[in-house]
Amino acid sequence: MKKILFVTHAASYGGAELFLRDVVLHARSSGQEWPVIFLADGPLKTDLIDAGATAKTVSAGAQILKLKRGSNVREALSALYSIYAVVKVLAKEFRNYDVICANSQKSLFIAGLAARLARKPFVWILHDLVSDQSFSGAMRRALVFFANHMTSAVVANSYAAKDALVQCGGKADKISVVYNGFDFDTNFGDNATERDRATLLGEAGLSDLPTVGLFGRIAQWKGQHVLIEAVERVPRLQAIIVGDATYQDGSYFDQIRAMVEDRNLSHRVKFLGFRKDVQRLMATVDIVAHTSTEPEPFGRVIVEGMAQRRPVIATRGGGVGEIIDHPTNGILCEAGDSVALAEAMRAIITDDAMASRLAEAGYQKVTARFSIERSVRDLKDVFDGLSRA
Ligand code: UDP
Ligand code: GLC
Repeated sequence: MKKILFVTHAASYGGAELFLRDVVLHARSSGQEWPVIFLADGPLKTDLIDAGATAKTVSAGAQILKLKRGSNVREALSALYSIYAVVKVLAKEFRNYDVICANSQKSLFIAGLAARLARKPFVWILHDLVSDQSFSGAMRRALVFFANHMTSAVVANSYAAKDALVQCGGKADKISVVYNGFDFDTNFGDNATERDRATLLGEAGLSDLPTVGLFGRIAQWKGQHVLIEAVERVPRLQAIIVGDATYQDGSYFDQIRAMVEDRNLSHRVKFLGFRKDVQRLMATVDIVAHTSTEPEPFGRVIVEGMAQRRPVIATRGGGVGEIIDHPTNGILCEAGDSVALAEAMRAIITDDAMASRLAEAGYQKVTARFSIERSVRDLKDVFDGLSRA
């Protein structure tokens, strides 16, 4: 059995990190230890250790962690010295492993150099759509260079993510797709009873009216403002907005809080902050919405809503079309179209048969396609297929 080591830069609760947590824990329960090196400390590392997995931090230092998707060449160069130091430490760590796998962009660069130094096969898991919408030209070129020349294989989280990288010059024959996988047996399907629903809505300060839930990081491109605009158009519809401004400065969060106040929606729209019980909350709402205003690379929250047997309305684009087959097992709206979102929500809350049909078809789709067993097996196939550095 090959010895695999994962490296990722952040240990906070983003989708890419939760993907990593789930595959590491599932691999472990099926007898394979996949240790993780984080380049900065955070709660996800603690969760993994608490669950019995092997995780540690090799700190990358502030200069490196400050680098962003839009960083220019000067900022990248100023981080060089710290990169050199951490690469040396990592290369030493890598000696004991057969395959090194980076789960983020920063770890692609840093672990990629270290893997080259240690002469180990290197895999990059790509969780983003590498496009000119979200990356500077220098960053795109660097990502494509590393993907093509420093990896043995690239794993994309959707065909959309694979295609975007290929469009920028990535070599298609190096890239396979492994979807996020979910443990449907233990984490889902605990449909809330009427009493659970009343309790959770009561705790949120809402009444027993139809409720939509939006789950995810509070960030402009996640489009929480689109949901607020749509809710304003549907009288007697309430909303919970769940998540925190992870990786952001919080100014967008302030804006949307003010938006709710200004539109007198405070009694109908509640912010619940970051929650660890997303599945329970999903089970209490009538609709799960996804409102990203840019193409979503994959969209875990969409699968989670469908797995919880909720009707899901999502933004068309990116990997979302690989999850939802509109209008069979979910509804797709154009990015930013709050009118269409309002109409779709109105249709669902007034047509129980439609809501149940979507929910059931959604459940069937995701449980058949996005299991954690399949993701771990697909990843293992990639690792097993590698022969050389
Ligand atoms: N999530 C969570 N608590 C929250 C908000 C979100 O645990 O308060 C989880 C959510 O269940 C999902 C992940 O964060 O698993 C978000 O992943 P997604 O792929 O939807 O978006 P990303 O943040 O990675 O862009
Ligand atoms: C990234 C993407 C998100 C995806 C997640 C897991 O954070 O933004 O769309 O679901 O990674 O692959």
